[in-house]
Amino acid sequence: MSKILVTGGAGFIGSHTVVELQNSGFEVVIADNLSNSNEQVISQIAEITSKKPLFELVDLANESACKNLFEKHSDIVAVIHFAASKAVGESVEKPLFYYQNNLCSLLNVLENMVIHAIKPIVFSSSCTVYGQPKILPVDEQSPLQPAESPYGNTKQICEEILSDCTKATSIHVIALRYFNPIGAHETALIGELPLGVPNNLMPFITQTAAGIREKLSVFGNDYNTPDGTCIRDYIHVVDLAKAHVVALNRMLNHQQKQSIEYFNVGTGNGFSVLDVIKSFEKTSGQTLNYQIVGRRAGDIEQIWANPKFANEELGWKAEKSLDDMTLSAWNWQKKLIQ
Ligand code: UFG
Repeated sequence: MSKILVTGGAGFIGSHTVVELQNSGFEVVIADNLSNSNEQVISQIAEITSKKPLFELVDLANESACKNLFEKHSDIVAVIHFAASKAVGESVEKPLFYYQNNLCSLLNVLENMVIHAIKPIVFSSSCTVYGQPKILPVDEQSPLQPAESPYGNTKQICEEILSDCTKATSIHVIALRYFNPIGAHETALIGELPLGVPNNLMPFITQTAAGIREKLSVFGNDYNTPDGTCIRDYIHVVDLAKAHVVALNRMLNHQQKQSIEYFNVGTGNGFSVLDVIKSFEKTSGQTLNYQIVGRRAGDIEQIWANPKFANEELGWKAEKSLDDMTLSAWNWQKKLIQ
């Protein structure tokens, strides 16, 4: 069984990916500092897959801790690197923390991969690297725009670091540019667990319906879109998790065509904020208390993916609908408040 290091494996996307990896026969070691997750996730993964992943409580931005991790698990064959801070607003307030955390952890991981001759790494990138594209849908050739936030900048810089490494070392990279992951596992045993007041739309919707928040603020209805609210490409987190397994197998089976490859991981469908609310009301049977307010600073108007390259090259395609996403998110929220 090939052992895969999943950094940030206790987090939202990481935990769903660990489930898919274990279901595909991989052995997983999770490295996570639990800064935005809970150790209970490890037992939930074990309940879903009937196998407990190995777990190391480690801060990868700490050089010696990262070195020890790789020495202890010297049989790792590949890395999937999720570990990073990801709140756009927070990154504006704490730029140094974001650069320190997101860049140092990647640098430490790469340095140890070189030492231990581990070649493949799947990297969590983001559609944020495209900014507001001039042409929609956005494909992998679309020009990258200057980042709108320190968080976005760390994703761009990390892609550059990885690209440089592929030129100078034997490291191989697949950078998955995620669109907007939402939803939860069908068992409702794992899902998104934001600390404090959620920044993102889906957890805010489910917490409002659950009575934890009074109402959802819809940030702007005066955009140049059919209903005036922003458009995003929402993707079910399980579809996204499966893309990681496909990417990993492509690397392990030496099917990469370039030493660094970039893929858009989206559905190809753009939905507005009001579309998401309507879907949620339909699948949950709840009436959502919401109010249109002013625009949120830094929001782009609309973006959705052209996923053709991922569909054709990876043989991966998102399968779940928006209704699957909103229903699974609601089932997870209901379980949380039980
Ligand atoms: N929105 C609301 N009310 C809320 C929260 C969000 O109306 O309470 C709207 C936003 O204005 C936006 C849409 O819902 O139009 C989606 O917002 P999210 O915060 O859920 O997602 P973003 O598209 O802003 O952010 C996502 C990821 C980030 C990533 C970013 C790149 O969550 O990690 O895409 O643009 F950086």
